[in-house]
Amino acid sequence: MTGRRIAVYPGSFDPIHNGHLDIIERCQPLFDQVIVAVLFNDEKQPLFTVDERVELIAEMTSSYSECRVESFSGLLVDYMDEVGASIIVRGLRAVTDFEYEFQMALMNRRLNRRIETVFMAPCEEYSYLSSRLAKEVFFLGGDLRGLVPARVLESMDAKRADRG
Ligand code: PNS
Repeated sequence: MTGRRIAVYPGSFDPIHNGHLDIIERCQPLFDQVIVAVLFNDEKQPLFTVDERVELIAEMTSSYSECRVESFSGLLVDYMDEVGASIIVRGLRAVTDFEYEFQMALMNRRLNRRIETVFMAPCEEYSYLSSRLAKEVFFLGGDLRGLVPARVLESMDAKRADRG
């Protein structure tokens, strides 16, 4: 591989949690640039808009000089071509993630031979954490401190207040 190693860390990030941030931090010494790419998807009721997610992630990652946050739609491999990246980073929490992740990695490689997927293990204390579970626990009144950044929790509180 020649040139700058640009990695894309794609996902829904609704919302970003400490497991995601742990992966982003682990990427820093490995790649020349990391692009956190938030998917515009059709989920009917996301908690945060894509712009809000991009803004929150940008705030959470502002200390990394070679990290930027963008949104994308359409095929991930097409977006990767646009930004000149050839590495996809995905966090692998448990064996249950493996099948879906393996399928995506092989499909993405089939779509573009230049692209490799790198799987990274998060810190074990976040190995059970997902955005879906975080939202469920949050709306049922559970304590997410230590799992979701305080700044994101504030925004979640504001969303809950808006919803009444
Ligand atoms: O965090 P998520 O929601 O599990 O991330 C899934 C994501 C965004 C990586 C995946 O849905 C994706 O890449 N979507 C873009 C559309 C695409 O390229 N689909 C084919 C994937 S093989």
